[in-house]
Amino acid sequence: MTEKEIERISDETIAKYRKYVNPAYANILQFSGFSVPEERAEGCYIYDISGRRFLDCVGGYGAFSLGHRNPAVVEAVKKQLDREALKSHFFLSTELADACEALAEVLPGDIDFSFLCNSGTEAVEGALKAARITTGRPKYVSAINGFHGKTYGGLSVSGREVYKTHFKPLLEQTENVPFNDVSALEKAVDENTAAVILEMLQGEGGVNVATNEYMQAARSITKEKGALLIVDEVRTGFGRTGKWFGSEHSGIVPDIITMAKALGGGVMPVGAFSANERVWNALFGKNPFMHSTTFGGNPLACAAVLAAIKTTKELKAVENCEVRGRQLLAGLKGLQEKYPEWIKDVRGIGLVAGMEFEDEDIGSLLIASCGKRDLLAAYSLNNPKVVRLEPPLIITAEEIDTVISILDEAIAETIETVSELI
Ligand SMILES: Cc1ncc(COP(=O)(O)O)c(C=O)c1O
Repeated sequence: MTEKEIERISDETIAKYRKYVNPAYANILQFSGFSVPEERAEGCYIYDISGRRFLDCVGGYGAFSLGHRNPAVVEAVKKQLDREALKSHFFLSTELADACEALAEVLPGDIDFSFLCNSGTEAVEGALKAARITTGRPKYVSAINGFHGKTYGGLSVSGREVYKTHFKPLLEQTENVPFNDVSALEKAVDENTAAVILEMLQGEGGVNVATNEYMQAARSITKEKGALLIVDEVRTGFGRTGKWFGSEHSGIVPDIITMAKALGGGVMPVGAFSANERVWNALFGKNPFMHSTTFGGNPLACAAVLAAIKTTKELKAVENCEVRGRQLLAGLKGLQEKYPEWIKDVRGIGLVAGMEFEDEDIGSLLIASCGKRDLLAAYSLNNPKVVRLEPPLIITAEEIDTVISILDEAIAETIETVSELI
């Protein structure tokens, strides 16, 4: 493609975004220097239409645990597409049965049943409904800065006002408590509580990791008060934290787990909520159509889930995540030592890592500076002071070294820019 063609396609796409998609987002992308559209992706890399290659540490906000277009997952989906794309819903689906069986094998404890849907927020909606019908109670307790999606239920239990204010009234009985604060949780959960919903790692909240004691307390408080515990593993599921599910770090078994993102192997959009027999009997025991979906659990999605589980095992992606995660965190800690006045904190678990800066403008300048150096990083939606790195779990030691050295240069440049502005 010639430079002229690249410019024409880029300009036309930005103009269409301004006219038909999201004008403010078009401005952000242009400001950050990302005005050339992406074209293709492979493994840990994304290529734009000019052929420029970016090391992807945004990873579709956690969707690309197996990297982009993992060959085994792509092959499984293509094979299925040649047979049948969507189901009539009249017959049994072997694909759905197989996918749910494979999920049960990797899910913790007695969580054996799964409902497949199309996104994380849908998984949360299902989980909230399941908790209500199981307990007959109306109230939900969740954490400040938690993120559970942007449909009404997910938004109601999410913990940042700016995304909620304009859409009120939301679900009526919800309470947001400080994260990692056992006594606040203890006070909030009462005989009206259907469920506590928590992430073990607040991704959009700014990479805040729950302590094992907090997750264990959440388990025992909910048990004591007759409420359910939902762990939202949309981001942390499927190996992202160095275990198949993040809740395994604390050794607890929730009543319901939600998941999405990496579930479809980075090829198909798939979400799911999974639960124990008690919850499933309450939700579907009297009426199998109490919760349903047209596209959820379609055969293409199921083929992707099955292949993703198999490939995650074969590639030892969960084990690699643990080792490379430690390397990434150590590298970031080194940068914190080098720039102590600028980097307030470095934290993470597995391959989700965050660097917290004094203010959010530094984060956006840094992301732009990384982009100039062909590295993609993101800031956290509910805490933009935190720049987040979430590379594929298949990332190599050399690639992590590259990430750290690019960050080093980009931080130095950002500091120089900010110092000139002061
Ligand atoms: C923990 C958590 N729950 C729910 C969601 C919503 O998922 P989706 O964007 O697929 O609706 C997200 C998305 O980032 C998430 O991180």
